[in-house]
Amino acid sequence: MKIMKRDFFQNTLAPLTIGLTLLTMVACNKPAGDAGGGSAGGEVIKVGEFASLTGKEAAFGQSSHKGTALAFEELNAVGGVLGKKFQHVFEDNQSKQGESKTIVSKLITRDNVVAVLGEVASGRSLDAAPVCQNLKIPMISPSSTNPKVTEMGDYIFRVCFIDPFQGTVMATFAKKTLKVNQVALLTDASAPYSVGLGKFFTERFTADGGAIVIDRKFNSGDKDFKAQLTAIKAANPQAIFVPCYYTEAGLIASQARQLGITVPLFGGDGWEAPELLQIGGAALEGCFYSTHYSPEDASPAVQNFVKKFKAKYNETPDAMAALGYDSALVLADAIKRAGSTDGAKVRDALAATKDFSGVTGKTTIDAQRNATKPAVIIAIKDGKFKYVETIAP
Ligand code: PHE
Repeated sequence: MKIMKRDFFQNTLAPLTIGLTLLTMVACNKPAGDAGGGSAGGEVIKVGEFASLTGKEAAFGQSSHKGTALAFEELNAVGGVLGKKFQHVFEDNQSKQGESKTIVSKLITRDNVVAVLGEVASGRSLDAAPVCQNLKIPMISPSSTNPKVTEMGDYIFRVCFIDPFQGTVMATFAKKTLKVNQVALLTDASAPYSVGLGKFFTERFTADGGAIVIDRKFNSGDKDFKAQLTAIKAANPQAIFVPCYYTEAGLIASQARQLGITVPLFGGDGWEAPELLQIGGAALEGCFYSTHYSPEDASPAVQNFVKKFKAKYNETPDAMAALGYDSALVLADAIKRAGSTDGAKVRDALAATKDFSGVTGKTTIDAQRNATKPAVIIAIKDGKFKYVETIAP
């Protein structure tokens, strides 16, 4: 059964089972703490979020969602914007490709949200972007890094860097830090993120004189990677670049070690989840990945966020949480500057975002509606994620 959750004021997390009765109840119920008391929707600013709250990439959706919910709670605690509080309406796509189209249409046409936040995985942001673009509702992806996401139209934004940069960061890391020249590539052919990051990495790595000695593919959800890894072992690489999501990355690492492959594996932000360590265990020692932020960053903005997040959820926020949080703040700032929740006006204000200070650094939206931000390298050491370095754009 599909689970739907909705956040009302003060972030009352109430899991609701979908059903007509409940939907009616939710639609008619005026949430406690409503500042207005007027007609449905008029006195609040409804913002939609679509996320992988359950399913294969639940760690992504859960983290991002918690960051977003915290931001709305804080925004509402100081009165919201334009004299109205936010109502955070969210839906689960169960990590399924294709599902986001339907739920984002519902958020816009049934719930009348004025903007949409989501998703983490590029493939699912690509699902939803045409819906937002056609209905002229601004969409902000917190952490999808494939360039195609914002190319879907002028209503589609993101608050993170893109994969041509992330690919360059990891190519430089491989050459300069790992000091390797012969790399194997293993990508998820069904994830636009994986295919894109593999391509951007290859372009830079080979331009810098490195060689991709073997290139193998798999599909999202695969559990056995022994055929690809056996071929990779025979090609004798010095390291293996595996830009995919954490479930497959963990399995690949442990099967690589079972086959006697000892060289380091490295990946991109898709590796970031505590589940990576649960799945891959000791096989991941000495492996690396790039991401957007580290909770070990000593800056007051990061430490303050970590403190608030821990107080609310009793866990340390990761990159998705930080970007989910920033996506809501960037939207609130744009609505404030627009002086309106009109889609076209909010779009223009988002496009004009300059030096907005958040947890993941300063957000400036460029002409392609992307942000430029530093990347962080994380190592897996003693079964833990350890901050290595920050790489400026
Ligand atoms: N960048 C990934 C994608 O585009 C998603 C991701 C972001 C995963 C941040 C983990 C951390 O699909």
